[in-house]
Amino acid sequence: MAKQNSSPQVCREPFDRGARLCSICRLVPAAPGLRKCSRLVAESPAMRALMLRAAPIASSDATVIVLGESGTGKEVLARTLHANSPRSASPFVAVNVAALPAELLESELFGHAKGAFTGATAPTPGLFEAAGGGTLLLDEIAEMPLPLQTKLLRVLQEGEVRRVGDTRAQAVDVRVISATNQDLAGAVEERRFRQDLYYRLKVFTLHVPPLRERAEDILSLARMFLEEERHPTGRFSTAAERALLACPWPGNVRELANAVRHGATLSGGRDVGLEHLPDDVIHPRKVRPAGSPLRTLAEVEREHVLAVLSACGGNQVDAARVLGIGRTTLWRKLRGFESGTTGSTG
Ligand SMILES: Nc1ncnc2c1ncn2[C@@H]1O[C@H](COP(=O)(O)OP(=O)(O)O)[C@@H](O)[C@H]1O
Ligand SMILES: [Mg+2]
Repeated sequence: MAKQNSSPQVCREPFDRGARLCSICRLVPAAPGLRKCSRLVAESPAMRALMLRAAPIASSDATVIVLGESGTGKEVLARTLHANSPRSASPFVAVNVAALPAELLESELFGHAKGAFTGATAPTPGLFEAAGGGTLLLDEIAEMPLPLQTKLLRVLQEGEVRRVGDTRAQAVDVRVISATNQDLAGAVEERRFRQDLYYRLKVFTLHVPPLRERAEDILSLARMFLEEERHPTGRFSTAAERALLACPWPGNVRELANAVRHGATLSGGRDVGLEHLPDDVIHPRKVRPAGSPLRTLAEVEREHVLAVLSACGGNQVDAARVLGIGRTTLWRKLRGFESGTTGSTG
């Protein structure tokens, strides 16, 4: 659930403001103030604008909400903010709020005392304590159950956590960054998300654009992923490059990384050609020309759900996330498609 990492690589070379990318690591975007990134490609105008906006936010201690579709790089951005903050020597801890049931999530975040519940044989610190002095990324924040939202708000207001089953509270110094692919403001309107917590979490908002809106990043990303695969030539054929540029990438950078891995494996050490790329990339789904037969909502839904699932390499957890629905709902829909019913009952 929680991922801790060592600090990203730090580029110490003199900074050339005219350069688009750092001349040493070739990955650090030329945004003053954002020097320390690991493998972050930001060559498109949209990403460069985002990095410029992120630089002063990185050095502040304020909360940030990172918005964007699944796979766009929200976690990469959160790590970059941390790496460029005064907290960079302390831990960066990421937790997926949607991955745990409420009771487990509470003790995961806040820790628990010995004997707090069956199996609690020793006092255990939570992720707030683990991230002490550093940054905690609450991923998929929109999925946080309401009772926990109340507890989180109290921790943020008071700057102290109380482990489950403990009577004493202890001070914690953590910067909280949240991320979501959902419409959080909409969740507030629908009262699924506490308004007071929302404002507490969103002193700053950063929006990571979908990959289809930043074509200039596609080939740099693809070459970086190919290099990471230790591909002997590190090159794509012209036709493969054209296909990479034409693909709408519904699964964003994550889908691109998987497509490159797929291509590298099948290329047998030669330049990655069109024939080595996944089918979804070679035959991106075309927008139907005007005048095509009108379809029912169920047909459109089926086609879209299957396209997203395929873009996510068949991974239902990722697909549900992209679609903004629960895993069970997705499963029910897929079962419905198989049996020929619409499956849209939940
Ligand atoms: N700008 C980027 N530069 C390099 N790698 C990226 C970039 N954006 C995303 N990635 C890679 O794509 C994958 C998905 O990114 P992630 O931050 O987990 O997306 P999200 O949290 O938005 O779902 C990760 O493997 C990440 O390293
Ligand atoms: Mg993520």
